This record gives sequence, structure tokens and C-alpha cells, in this order.
Amino acid sequence: MSSVPMRSIKTDRLVLRPSRGTDADRAFEIQSDWDVTRMLSMASFPPDQQEMEQWFADHEREWRDGEAYRFAIESDGNLVGLVDLDGLTESEAALGYWIERASWGRGYAYEAAQAVTRFGFAELGLSRIKAGHAYDNAASGRVLRKLGFVPLDIVERFSRPRGASIQQHRYVLTKPGSS
Ligand SMILES: CC(C)(COP(=O)(O)OP(=O)(O)OC[C@H]1O[C@@H](n2cnc3c(N)ncnc32)[C@H](O)[C@@H]1OP(=O)(O)O)[C@@H](O)C(=O)NCCC(=O)NCCS
Repeated sequence: MSSVPMRSIKTDRLVLRPSRGTDADRAFEIQSDWDVTRMLSMASFPPDQQEMEQWFADHEREWRDGEAYRFAIESDGNLVGLVDLDGLTESEAALGYWIERASWGRGYAYEAAQAVTRFGFAELGLSRIKAGHAYDNAASGRVLRKLGFVPLDIVERFSRPRGASIQQHRYVLTKPGSS
């Protein structure tokens, strides 16, 4: 995949900057909270320090190779979460995000995801962005609907932190202005 130069995105209240290896410790702290991690299908609980370090250490390469675009979400210089586009093809990607428990309910997920979906359409040339949430994650469903995502279907998906198959509600957002 071709890529775009690494860059940060500023929103009204947040800075979204390419995530990197040194973010792993803070991510480990945030994902030590079951209320955060139980909603993430691929994450382990409790989090694994080494796995987290290896994952974050690969983010710059992923960006350069056009595989994934992952952003640390910063508020007043503090890392409060992550938002990303991964699973890239020429025209599609999957949106993901998580926010530390203490910063929920301030509109950060919406603000960060809105900026990153715009980035995906305008700068990566995507035409569709997919997303999904666990059946019991109403807050994420609300974020996606506010962004204009349309419900697609409901599938069974294995949740790694829960160690069980659960229902996943899947959505899609089409590039504005395209049919
Ligand atoms: C889902 C998550 C990212 C939302 O982050 P956030 O910054 O609090 O989200 P926002 O403040 O932008 O928006 C949340 C919306 O959900 C609503 N909401 C919150 N809890 C809700 C609930 N239990 N039922 C229905 N709506 C709910 C809020 O009122 C808000 O909507 P509003 O703006 O219309 O009032 C955050 O809770 C999180 O990180 N959860 C754990 C990880 C996760 O779920 N990641 C997404 C995986 S799909």
C-alpha cells in the first residue's frame, strides 16, 4: 500500500499524533481497566506489557507501509486514548478507538474519530470506513451514529478479553458526496 507522510491532526480540544513505542506504558495503564478493555475484541486482559510494547513499537512502520494509521489522542499534553484506521485496502479501512475511563463523556471519542474519518477520506482516498462494537457497548454505538455510520449487520465475533464469542454490531460510513 502507498502511504502519506506522518503527521499530527489538531482538533478543537485534542492533538492526534502518530503513536509510537514510548506510548506503551500509558496504554498499559489505560487498558488495565476492565471497563475499557472488555470492549476491545483483540486486546488481552490483563494487558501484557511486552505485547503492548511490541505493538506500539511497530506503529511507525505500519504507517510508513500504509498498513495502519494510529494516533495517540492527547488532551493538554496527556495521552487519553487511541484512535486508528487499520485493515487498509485501496478503498476501505476499519475505525477503532478507546479512551481512558476518567475522560469518558466529554465528546473526545467523537471529536477524534470525526477528524480521523475525514483524514481517511480526504488524505488516504478511502471510499468506505467500517466499524463495529460489542452488543453491550451503547456508548460506542452512539459515537458511530453521531458520525453518520449506518448499521450493517450483527455477527458473532470472538472477544479475546472476555474469552467468549459475542455479538458484534457492524457499521459502515461512506465518503460524503459519493453514492
Ligand atoms: C466508547 C468510548 C470510546 C466513548 O468515548 P467518549 O469519549 O466517552 O465518547 P463521547 O463522549 O464522544 O460520546 C459518547 C456518547 O455515548 C453516550 N453514552 C454514554 N454511555 C451511554 C450508554 N450507556 N448508553 C447510551 N449512550 C451512552 C454519551 O451520552 C455520548 O452521546 P451524546 O454526545 O449524544 O451525549 C469509551 O467509552 C471507551 O473508550 N470505551 C472502552 C473502549 C471502547 O469501547 N472502544 C470502542 C470499541 S467499539
